[in-house]
Amino acid sequence: MCTKSELEQFVKQAKQYARFGKVADYIPALGKANPNDLSIAIYKPDGNVIDAGDTTDKVTLQSISKIITLALVLIDHGEKEVFQKVGMEPTGDPFHSIAKLEEVQPAKPLNPMINAGALAVTHMINGASVEERFWRLLQFVRKLAGNPEISYSKEVATSEFETAFLNRSLCYFLKQHGIINEDVEELMDLYTKQCAIEMTCVDLARIGLVFAMDGRDPLTGEQIMPSDVARICKTFMVTCGMYNASGEFAIKIGIPAKSGVSGGILAAVPGRFGIGIFGPALDDKGNSITGMKLLKLLSKTYSLSIF
Ligand code: DON
Repeated sequence: MCTKSELEQFVKQAKQYARFGKVADYIPALGKANPNDLSIAIYKPDGNVIDAGDTTDKVTLQSISKIITLALVLIDHGEKEVFQKVGMEPTGDPFHSIAKLEEVQPAKPLNPMINAGALAVTHMINGASVEERFWRLLQFVRKLAGNPEISYSKEVATSEFETAFLNRSLCYFLKQHGIINEDVEELMDLYTKQCAIEMTCVDLARIGLVFAMDGRDPLTGEQIMPSDVARICKTFMVTCGMYNASGEFAIKIGIPAKSGVSGGILAAVPGRFGIGIFGPALDDKGNSITGMKLLKLLSKTYSLSIF
């Protein structure tokens, strides 16, 4: 795998594409990000990390959290129960689309990566209160990243909570059809905190490594999730992780990955390493434009495609 100076070179190349992207601003607090920021970490099973860019920058998980909550609810409830509430098929639609919800019968979201499916998954996190459910999720994230300091951005959570009218409408649709049965404001509170969990690209890479190693943290030896759960999550990363760009991403890059509108990408190269990226300039599908460029350079240069 590459040296630090090669990685720095790739970052320099990828940064040139930042001008073609735009930071997300439908969550007002995310609009403050600098589109020219770009950092990356590659975490290897022996604990070595190769990084480039300002790796102290923190990124909120946004949709990357969907892969982690999915793992947690699969552990909490098992495959059968989870897939009664949410499907397994890609949509080819943008992440916030409501369109397919009316077309499928019974009315359940097509997959856990689109917002409707993610809301149904967050609904399933076990616990007696929003506080307890969020605490359980945060503890799980901290364990995956091997970092007990990880927390969430209150500013980003509040900013999304106050403006998430489309997500609220998805919740009401799901409630009408019996997919969820909790108070919508409580679910939005939990979901927006989940999306606002923040960490560096090094933490992201370490989580990617656990998925890459089939749910086992190679540094502690702990099996954090059953290998079947890691397998399901990685499969969703391939089929739906980059939303309606997942097909092109699979062909051109071929690495299981999950993006967020904050500009984060978590990638897992099976059996080899985890990759974390933070580059807030997004393309029109909500994926980091510089992050995708970086992954493409890495995949091509080091033959990382799983296909
Ligand atoms: O629910 C939302 O719209 C955001 N909290 C997360 C969306 C997201 O990250 C989509 N990713 N590319």
